[in-house]
Amino acid sequence: MMSDLVIYFSRSGENYFGGVLKNIEKGNTEVIAEYIQEFTGADLFKVEPAVEYPEDYMECIDVAKKEQQNDARPEIKESLEDISAYDTIYIGFPNWWGTLPMPMWTQLEKLDFSGKTVKPFVTHEGSGFGSSKRDLAKLCSGAEIENGLSIPGANVYDVKDTVESWIKE
Ligand SMILES: Cc1cc2nc3c(=O)[nH]c(=O)nc-3n(C[C@H](O)[C@H](O)[C@H](O)COP(=O)(O)O)c2cc1C
Repeated sequence: MMSDLVIYFSRSGENYFGGVLKNIEKGNTEVIAEYIQEFTGADLFKVEPAVEYPEDYMECIDVAKKEQQNDARPEIKESLEDISAYDTIYIGFPNWWGTLPMPMWTQLEKLDFSGKTVKPFVTHEGSGFGSSKRDLAKLCSGAEIENGLSIPGANVYDVKDTVESWIKE
């Protein structure tokens, strides 16, 4: 039987919530990834950079900006090489400077998405998906990309029902 997979990136540490800096144990996107696992029984794969991003929000913003400007492919701790056992793949990430964090590019470019169904989800501080859907269309070429789910990072603990109905769409 084919099962579902969630590939996601999420950063814990210092982050902004409606203009206030807070330290969080678990990243916002990870909260959503775990709801999906609970509702679908999907396997979870977390993309983790080999070199962690700074805990400090402002420093992280800078590092991420430079990586994007350089079109970098940061090394990741572990990579997934084969997704042939899955038909539906949830892809989740925070909006970083308008699109996916670069480690997601490192991971997604290794995979063959032909014939797959992709359900993207993003957490953000106001910009929603930004240009990430266009980027995903390239990164997941051959996949059918379904309606995405966009959640403000500050709301992740209030949207479990929304996630459930989106899964069933
Ligand atoms: C490096 C960096 C860049 C970000 N850029 C944006 C942005 O361009 N637009 C936006 O709405 N939010 C931006 N954010 C806010 C995150 O998207 C938001 O806090 C998200 O929920 C974080 O998810 P996570 O906790 O799973 O990492 C940025 C955050 C970081 C750390």
